[in-house]
Amino acid sequence: MSETVVVIGGTSGMGLATAQVLSSEGYRVIISGRSQDTINKALSQVAGDSTGFPLDFTDAASVASFFEQVGSLDHLALVGSGKAVWGNFRDLKLEDLKVAFDQKFYGFLLCTQAALSKLRADGSITFVIGGASRSAIPGTTGVAAVNGAIQAMAFTMAKELAPLRVNILSPGLFDTPVYDRAYQGSSC
Ligand SMILES: NC(=O)c1ccc[n+]([C@@H]2O[C@H](COP(=O)([O-])OP(=O)(O)OC[C@H]3O[C@@H](n4cnc5c(N)ncnc54)[C@H](OP(=O)(O)O)[C@@H]3O)[C@@H](O)[C@H]2O)c1
Repeated sequence: MSETVVVIGGTSGMGLATAQVLSSEGYRVIISGRSQDTINKALSQVAGDSTGFPLDFTDAASVASFFEQVGSLDHLALVGSGKAVWGNFRDLKLEDLKVAFDQKFYGFLLCTQAALSKLRADGSITFVIGGASRSAIPGTTGVAAVNGAIQAMAFTMAKELAPLRVNILSPGLFDTPVYDRAYQGSSC
């Protein structure tokens, strides 16, 4: 039987590309997005026995309901985006940084905790973070903080949760809808 992979944020960009590759290699893929519309659109571009359910990781009830529908799984990939905070440290606004943590950091944490009881004991979790937390790029202190917090948490999780593997993927730049939003000043 094929292994099941949940891709949080599988409706767009790198999450959609991940779902496409995994399904073409025979995995059963379950994607999430915040609406059934974006899920259906994405599923039309994903091969095989794939499905999807709505999930907003800023909403604990939505996360719980998603994982109830998913059932057991072998791997969890967290590729969703959240509202990011760009700009120099001097100008960082605490309320913006709190929103960024509420979305990507606590969103990933909430999804991972909800998935744990459903995950195969020696399966895997993969967090997609980003280059800001390792590259010291001026104007990205807020983004670096959020992604660096996920990385720091994952190192310790890997020890606590073994034999479950906990991975960090920290890519460089990819041309995805993230950038359209970033240049409009809202970003992800
Ligand atoms: N693109 C890059 O160059 C790059 C580089 C390094 C790291 N990253 C990181 O990689 C991740 C994916 O980036 P991407 O460029 O592929 O982004 P993207 O194309 O904007 O896709 C974002 C995904 O996250 C989902 N999402 C957004 N808000 C959500 C929420 N509140 N709850 C649940 N899901 C939510 C979206 O689903 P719906 O819109 O369907 O709701 C969508 O599936 C991000 O964490 C980003 O920071 C990106």
